[in-house]
Amino acid sequence: MTLVLVERDGAVGVVLLNRPDQLNALSDGLMDELVTALRELDGDEAVRSIVLGGSERAFAAGADIGELARSSAIELYNARRVERWDAIRKLRTPLVAAVSGYCLGGGCELALSCDLVVASETARFGQPETGLGIIPGAGGTQLLTRAVGKALAMDVILSGRQLTAREALAAGLVARVVAREAWLEEAKRVAREIASKGPVATRLAKESVDRAFEVSLSAGLEVERRALYLAFASEDAKEGLQAFVEKRKPDFKGR
Ligand code: COA
Repeated sequence: MTLVLVERDGAVGVVLLNRPDQLNALSDGLMDELVTALRELDGDEAVRSIVLGGSERAFAAGADIGELARSSAIELYNARRVERWDAIRKLRTPLVAAVSGYCLGGGCELALSCDLVVASETARFGQPETGLGIIPGAGGTQLLTRAVGKALAMDVILSGRQLTAREALAAGLVARVVAREAWLEEAKRVAREIASKGPVATRLAKESVDRAFEVSLSAGLEVERRALYLAFASEDAKEGLQAFVEKRKPDFKGR
């Protein structure tokens, strides 16, 4: 059975985790397939945004605990497992997480590695690792803290508290909360909207926002300004501005 299902919906790539019996626990094999599928879509110029989802019951209930229990520290270190989450954060194509149900541990870190999260009202976000005697190791302590602030991140990581979709929305972890049955359709709709914008500008904007978490304000503003001039030099910018003046829809080429 393939652990990741890949579909194309026009300019949107849709990738669904497919280990339903294990609540999409993120095994080594699944993460391998996931990164391979995402990299392939990322390299396809016709793909302008990607939806990453699980099932209605679970986005992902974390790293595969059975695998972790069988591994030694040195095996984990040598296998560089957690670097797969970094690989996902480095993709250039905007990634929309479609989260329904459990979004725990490495699953929550996977959602945090996407550019924005669309959550069903059933979604539950948590980092239960300390209950297993380990800690979030795929970015959770850093990405969750940046997303929701220290107070709530400490609560979630130290006490094992799960956030509802509404709490996650209020805290800044989630961008939109949607009805139970709309979790995937709504994420695809958001991804289609992203895909309809200027592709060069979209990538530059994503890079600029990401820089806000890496550098000082003045350095970030400098990155933004250069990205603006680069966007301005694109054919897409000419087309987008001209289309507005001519009261028509732009036809972006991604150049
Ligand atoms: N790794 C491996 N298998 C997992 C898993 C994980 N992270 N999460 C769930 N599963 C498996 C269960 O072992 C079970 O398999 P089985 O049917 O062969 O026994 C199956 O998925 C269904 O899970 P179950 O626990 O029966 O469902 P539930 O509705 O009672 O509980 C959770 C759901 C999410 C609360 C519970 O599965 C859980 O706590 N999972 C672990 C969450 C976690 O600690 N993640 C961090 C990992 S670092």
